[in-house]
Amino acid sequence: MIYFDHAATTPVRPEVVAVIQESLIEDYGNPSSTYALGRRTRQHIDQARRIFASSVKADPADIIITSCGTESNNTAIIPTALALEGKGKHLITSATEHHAVLHPMHYLEELGFEVTYLSVDDTGRVTLQSVMDAVREDTILVSLMYANNEVGSINPIAEIGSFLAEKNILFHTDAVQAFGSETIDVRQQHIDLLSVSAHKINGPKGIGFLYRKNSLHLPNFIHGGSQENDHRGGTENTPYIRGFAKAIALMEIEREESNRKKRGLGNYFLSELEKSGVPFECNGVYPEGVPHILNLWLPGMRSDKMLIQCDLKGIMLAAGSACTAGSLEPSHVLEAMYGKGNPRATESLRISFGPDNTTDEADTLISLLKSIHNKQYKNG
Ligand SMILES: Cc1ncc(COP(=O)(O)O)c(C=O)c1O
Repeated sequence: MIYFDHAATTPVRPEVVAVIQESLIEDYGNPSSTYALGRRTRQHIDQARRIFASSVKADPADIIITSCGTESNNTAIIPTALALEGKGKHLITSATEHHAVLHPMHYLEELGFEVTYLSVDDTGRVTLQSVMDAVREDTILVSLMYANNEVGSINPIAEIGSFLAEKNILFHTDAVQAFGSETIDVRQQHIDLLSVSAHKINGPKGIGFLYRKNSLHLPNFIHGGSQENDHRGGTENTPYIRGFAKAIALMEIEREESNRKKRGLGNYFLSELEKSGVPFECNGVYPEGVPHILNLWLPGMRSDKMLIQCDLKGIMLAAGSACTAGSLEPSHVLEAMYGKGNPRATESLRISFGPDNTTDEADTLISLLKSIHNKQYKNG
């Protein structure tokens, strides 16, 4: 089995599993209870919150622990727009966002908001100029992803943040794919809302956080008990919260080395693929994007057929993003970058590395791609 789909999700680290297991057994007290068992669980959550906050240079009071990246994005966008509609009903996002941003935007359109979907160039990035051109008097929120989940391109977050701060327009970024490899500083980058998910950094699925400045006084998305500083009802998932904190602590220690390994393997892959004679082009701006994502156009080779061949050999990777991989829809990201009907949208593969992938694994995938290519070529 060869796993090249780390942008979809990552294996949970054994150290994280150990913390979760310990917490499942020991932290059964409800953190809202005032007796010792509850108080101890609360302390564990407070400690994790400090780790979440420091990972993006934020204040712990500005962290809302959520159930996933999708919930973080929904919380960042929907109640914010509803609260500010008196000020304006215009929102800005980009055409290449994850569905966890695009679908809340579509929902708001149904409620009468107007959304501008910025186009991207063939690097997959939006430009500061395009944001400047799109901003209007009634713009209340801009949501742009930090790094794209299909091609890995990184948006100019700090420049856009600084411009929007001057204009007094709220800025959200979906940092789910960037959090593992990039150093994020919400203050320096003028980010008001930022979404993160644990399962992309070797934590468990089903836990994430949203950085949201308390001083913004934005309304809740999930209504219920007074958990999360009264911002999100629901008894806390202490084991996963602690597991997520452990994953972040490990990530921060190993980030540089892990980035180096992933980038090294990506470079190796490209040079060996070139030697193999399989025609290809990179989609996006390799090596300028996040180091784990390599997206390749293999002209004439259909993504869905390649995925089946890879699966038969135990190689796991993706064409579009994981959430749409079950369907044969062309990638909305590649279409936005290269135009509708461009063969890249249906003839590309996303290979996403983890630090433990090896050059042998890369060689196995390359020889499979070579044999698919040769067969196809022979069959005309
Ligand atoms: C850019 C991006 N945003 C949001 C999400 C959704 O995160 P989660 O799976 O934790 O809901 C993903 C996951 O694929 C993603 O890649």
